[in-house]
Amino acid sequence: FEGMTIGELAKHTNESISTLQEILVNVGEKFDSEFDTLSIDIAELVAMETGVNVRRLHSNEGAEIFPRPAVVTVMGHVDHGKTSLLDALRQTSVAAREAGGITQHLGAFVVSMPSGASITFLDTPGHAAFSAMRARGAAVTDVVVLVVAADDGVMPQTLEAMSHAKAAKVPIVVAINKCDKPAADPERVKVQLASEGLLLEEMGGDVQVVEVSAVNKTGLDNLEEALLLQADLMDLKARIDGPAQAYVVEARLDRGRGPLATAIVKAGTLVCGQHVVVGAEWGRIRAIRDMMGNLTDKAKPAMPVEIEGLRGLPMAGDDIIVVESEERARMLSAGRKKKYEKDRLRKIDEGRTEAPEPSE
Ligand code: GTP
Ligand code: MG
Repeated sequence: FEGMTIGELAKHTNESISTLQEILVNVGEKFDSEFDTLSIDIAELVAMETGVNVRRLHSNEGAEIFPRPAVVTVMGHVDHGKTSLLDALRQTSVAAREAGGITQHLGAFVVSMPSGASITFLDTPGHAAFSAMRARGAAVTDVVVLVVAADDGVMPQTLEAMSHAKAAKVPIVVAINKCDKPAADPERVKVQLASEGLLLEEMGGDVQVVEVSAVNKTGLDNLEEALLLQADLMDLKARIDGPAQAYVVEARLDRGRGPLATAIVKAGTLVCGQHVVVGAEWGRIRAIRDMMGNLTDKAKPAMPVEIEGLRGLPMAGDDIIVVESEERARMLSAGRKKKYEKDRLRKIDEGRTEAPEPSE
């Protein structure tokens, strides 16, 4: 198997020849016609950019898949207790106890259950970040925990969170928080949610509702159980072997260590030393840290890690793909930068034509 023509690749990836040609130009490859043969390297690179059939080209078809933890995002109205609830959950996590209650700042953490199952929580990404990630096709979240304060009830951002989850086709588990408050009225919240079209379990639907108090730390076990049940229903599995397919949850610049990205692997295994393209940036993974800040050499599916070694700062929602060499990483990164710039200019252009200049 020496390679394939652009035409064949178009069939494999279900993309038009012109799309593939644009990618080829972006990565600096020359071509004359659709009958040109691409090396398997280049074919793979172009396929990666189309985002489809990468698995097949990576010959992971038939690769064994294993159950993986659910990745959960907490959303809800301002002040309804998202951060408090995450803190309470984090304190109950085995890892946090092991660290003597000192929590590392990573954009995600894992709660391990006595049963051995675990849940990965994404730390307060906020609705804007969630939307940005969704817009970029970063399907990182498996379940949304919708936090609603029992005394305040359904509010504008509760509805916004509901519509985000719906648009992303992510199931919701409702956590009615602040149930310790004298003014708490969980029943009223349920009626409100139902009237907004959420099909609650106790009303014959399939959305679970749990009453909690982040302050008193009550109901947390029930919430975790509800999340595990939801995850079971979804039968979440991932390939562990082979190149990682991962996403950036958040990124920051550290003075000493350079750009750092919190990442979640969706499939495969990310390994220290690999060359990666992250969004439009590239680099070679110099260090991987787990959520406790310990160095590790690998990241498996649903395991939040911090990676070091990127040349530039990526953005939340950026995809991470593993490539064979530094040369390829540079090439792909340059191609993407070119494409992003083109898209940016096109958008500005569209803005201009949509809003015609006032005539004199
Ligand atoms: P934003 O990030 O600003 O949207 O708020 P948030 O949803 O993260 O809420 P946060 O956790 O900051 O809590 C807001 C306020 O509600 C704080 O004063 C918390 O102490 C309080 N609070 C949170 N959970 C509970 C609870 O279970 N019971 C009571 N009584 N108060 C709570
Ligand atoms: Mg908060």
